[in-house]
Amino acid sequence: QMGAPMNKKVITEDMITNKTENGYNLNFDVNKNYTAKTATVNGKTVTYRAYENIVYVAKPVDIAYQTINIYIPEEYFKNKSVGKYNAKTAPIFFPNTVGGYMPGAAGVPGNGRDGKPDASLVALSNGYVVASPGARGRTLEKDGKYTGKAPAVIVDLKAAVRYLRYNDVRMPGRADRIISNGTSAGGAVSALLGATGNNKDYEPYLKEIGALNVRDDIYAVSAYCPITNLDNANTAYEWMFNDVKTYKKIEISMLDYNVERKYTEGTLTDDEILRSNDLKKMFPTYLNSLKLKGKNGKLLTLDENGNGSFKEQIKQYYIDSANVTLKKGTDLSEFEFLTIKNGKVVDLDYDKYVAYMGRQKTPGAFDNVDLSTGENNEFGDETTNNKHFTEYMLEHSTANGTMADKKIIKMMNPMNYVANSKVKYWRIRHGAVDKDTSLAIPAILAIKLENLGKKVDFASPWATPHSGDYDLDELFSWMDKVVA
Ligand code: DHB
Repeated sequence: QMGAPMNKKVITEDMITNKTENGYNLNFDVNKNYTAKTATVNGKTVTYRAYENIVYVAKPVDIAYQTINIYIPEEYFKNKSVGKYNAKTAPIFFPNTVGGYMPGAAGVPGNGRDGKPDASLVALSNGYVVASPGARGRTLEKDGKYTGKAPAVIVDLKAAVRYLRYNDVRMPGRADRIISNGTSAGGAVSALLGATGNNKDYEPYLKEIGALNVRDDIYAVSAYCPITNLDNANTAYEWMFNDVKTYKKIEISMLDYNVERKYTEGTLTDDEILRSNDLKKMFPTYLNSLKLKGKNGKLLTLDENGNGSFKEQIKQYYIDSANVTLKKGTDLSEFEFLTIKNGKVVDLDYDKYVAYMGRQKTPGAFDNVDLSTGENNEFGDETTNNKHFTEYMLEHSTANGTMADKKIIKMMNPMNYVANSKVKYWRIRHGAVDKDTSLAIPAILAIKLENLGKKVDFASPWATPHSGDYDLDELFSWMDKVVA
């Protein structure tokens, strides 16, 4: 049922709806340049206006990606309401289409690969305004220069938020109720958007592309399987998968969760095993430095072998996950790594569970010695296609690799910014059989946010692989709750 990516529509200059003789008109006009659309969602007809292919900055680098599509329920032009909302109160659903740190064009509501209405269509049926931003990504080139390397993706999303903030008075919906959504790399940048609102680090980049000079903070974050905290993801991966010496790997060009995945099997080489051991050993130092606290207020830590209360917490997420699905009536008797007593999962054999999940990536999973990963490609610059972003891989480079700019590495990691973020509401999901990154990575983000006093809804849904938007009823009831 997997097919071609949905976000690779080619946008050309003649399709841009806000181009004028003197540049791009950044003043939104509800009465112009829209098409009326209808769709059916759960048997209900949804009527909305589609404002598409709007360039959201004055000096775009790539008009195929620096555009936003905006969809507004028709009722809001007739003083009517949809569900809980009206033109004044409607939140803005802000889903990006980024996958694999590739370029992601502005999204179009429709039916997903499963034939069901996607998140944007469901959002419209629930009375949300939908604003789907495009953003540049790691493979873009123009005049012999790379134009979409980090931090382009986050700079573009911020510029799109600024467009909505600036046009709040001209548009139904509340720009102070923007809820970002994304999956995988898109989940990572959704979290990054929430973490970095109005932060000065991004200002020079925003200026350069002619972003509007207004705030770019959002209201809430939804992130599915965020491939985030990239500079610590190598060590987290080996902390979890060190014992697993065989792998089923996907091609780097197919990292993007949007596209069909083909797996090749293999066994770690001696070199890779040595690297895995080194990386695994490095993780506890990082984890302990965070001084994360569990629900009981006690520090979550790891000893030099990688054991301790943090590992117990990770195991607990999997146990909680199994219990949620067991309660719904799923038969879990086939899983011998579970101990079920009186209709409750009371234990999980962690090592067996990790072996059952299996390894998908070889060490380093995100920054590799040969600069072969999508993330190495993301951290390239205008003239260098791939770069390292960890000291260990720089030292062990087999490709004469150079290091990405420290400031840019910092700017791509929400962990460096969450303490200054005003965003209160976070919903983070990472499937219980997702091995694109270690569960430790989204867990660290979620726990850090909880420790900062945020309202965090974090879970690892049972038997769920690397994917997103699979629980739209729950997602929208969470959104309705947090905007109220
Ligand atoms: C995605 C998947 C990965 O495994 C990764 O390293 C980066 C991005 C993705 O599906 O977006």
